[in-house]
Amino acid sequence: MKKSIAKSYNKIAHEYTQAHGYGEHVTLNSLKKFVKLLPVKAKILDVGCGGGQDSKFLTEAGYAVLGVDVSKEMIKLAKRYSPKTTFAVADVMSLPAKIKYNGIWCCRVFYHISITEQGKFLKKLNVLLKKDGILYLTTVTSDTKEDYEAYDSGSDGLLKKRLTGKSFKALLKKYNFKILKFKYWVGKKGMEVYATKRIK
Ligand SMILES: C[S@@+](CC[C@H](N)C(=O)[O-])C[C@H]1O[C@@H](n2cnc3c(N)ncnc32)[C@H](O)[C@@H]1O
Repeated sequence: MKKSIAKSYNKIAHEYTQAHGYGEHVTLNSLKKFVKLLPVKAKILDVGCGGGQDSKFLTEAGYAVLGVDVSKEMIKLAKRYSPKTTFAVADVMSLPAKIKYNGIWCCRVFYHISITEQGKFLKKLNVLLKKDGILYLTTVTSDTKEDYEAYDSGSDGLLKKRLTGKSFKALLKKYNFKILKFKYWVGKKGMEVYATKRIK
C-alpha cells in the first residue's frame, strides 16, 4: 500500500543513509561530470537530498547548495553530515518559482513519483532551472517493455516506478528538456540523464 513519502523516510532515514548514502560512492563519477557542466559559483538545488552526501560534495566543491527533502529526519541527518550546506524540509513542488538554479541534482527520487504525477514534477524542475541550467536526474529502469508502478516491500511500501529508456527520454523531451547525455546506471538497473532546458 502506498504511504506518504515523508512518513516512510522519517522511519527509515537512519537505515537508508547507512546503507545507501554515507560511505557509498555510487554517485561520485556522476557528481564530477555534473560540476564540469556548471559555471563557477553555480547555485545548485539538490532535490530529495536525503542524508546530504551529494550536497556535501557539491558544497565542498565550492557551490552554493540548497538541499531540500520532505523528510525532516533526513534533513536532521543531512545538517549533521554537512553543516556548511543550507538544508530545508520542503517538497520541491512548493518551492518558489522565481528562484532559479544553475544546476538541479535529483538523484534516486524520480522513481518515487507516480506516473500520474511525474509530468507535474518535471514541469516544476524545468521552472526552477535557469535558461542554460543543467538537470541531473536518475530513475529505475523497467525490466519489461512497459512502464509500471511497483511497491517496494523492503522500504516501508514505497513506490518504485519503473520506466523504459524510451519513455524516460520521451518524458524529458515532452517537458522541455534537451538530453545532453543518457546512460544506464548501476548496471542496467537505473538510468541517468544530464539535460538542459529546451527553449521554445
Ligand atoms: C531514495 S532517497 C534518495 C536520497 C538521496 N538523493 C540519495 O541519492 O541518497 C529519496 C529521497 O527523496 C525525498 N523526496 C521524495 N519526494 C520528494 C519531493 N517531492 N520533494 C523533496 N524531497 C522528496 C525522500 O524523502 C527521500 O529522502
